[in-house]
Amino acid sequence: MYKNDMLEKGFIRFDAGADIGRLYKKDAAWIAEQFAEIEQAFEDLPVDVYAAGLHRYRRFSRAVILPWSNQVEWLPAMVNEDGEAVAEYFQGSFNPEFKDAYRSFPMLQQEMLENELLKRIIQFDFAQTYWEARDMVMPVNVGVHFVKLKVERDGDEAVSSPNCLHRDGEPFTFAHLVKRRNVVGGQNVIATVDDVDQFPQDIDEGHIFADFALTKGLESYGVADVAVSHYVSAVRKGSGDEAGERSMILIDYQPTVVKPL
Ligand SMILES: [Fe+2]
Repeated sequence: MYKNDMLEKGFIRFDAGADIGRLYKKDAAWIAEQFAEIEQAFEDLPVDVYAAGLHRYRRFSRAVILPWSNQVEWLPAMVNEDGEAVAEYFQGSFNPEFKDAYRSFPMLQQEMLENELLKRIIQFDFAQTYWEARDMVMPVNVGVHFVKLKVERDGDEAVSSPNCLHRDGEPFTFAHLVKRRNVVGGQNVIATVDDVDQFPQDIDEGHIFADFALTKGLESYGVADVAVSHYVSAVRKGSGDEAGERSMILIDYQPTVVKPL
């Protein structure tokens, strides 16, 4: 559906709810009911221990998708020394805040591993990516992050990691908005690959391909890591009384065999 745009521009923007409904012949009521379960799962995200004081909450699970059948299979949890089910995330040298370090996150809840809409989102995003023939005869690795930035007091600021223009180190990453409520900030920027490690306000304006905020549930974007860098600005509480919240599903795709860079 958007594969050509991904190839030509290096990024795409879309409405995952509407597109998935059309492609998989699901009505709006089905999408809404499945999405409500996902929203509910975001009410129970533990603090991201790698972001103490940064108002970030997170879960993470890994899956594989088989390119020849589109089947999605969740990988089993690892159990850490505290007996918790976790999954590990490794970005090599691509995240300057966690260079060559594994981060271990609590797994997605069981209901989410069974959520049909989440599975469709994984399949839909995958259909917008492009690969070499040799990658298509092996499973593709999928990382699914639930990330919530929540600011309860004026003056608090929640940031994403890394807090600069960056590439993720996986060939493709997709971001799907779950909730945006009473926040200012959370502005997305897509720019050239040469602008990594910088803030958008410090780079040549001509290097910026897109500058937007996701506001609607399941409003989405995807990036080809080889082609563009991306950034999201810090989130602060808006003028309303309730806590500010920006919740996202981030999904990355990586081939089984990774070429050394
Ligand atoms: Fe990223």
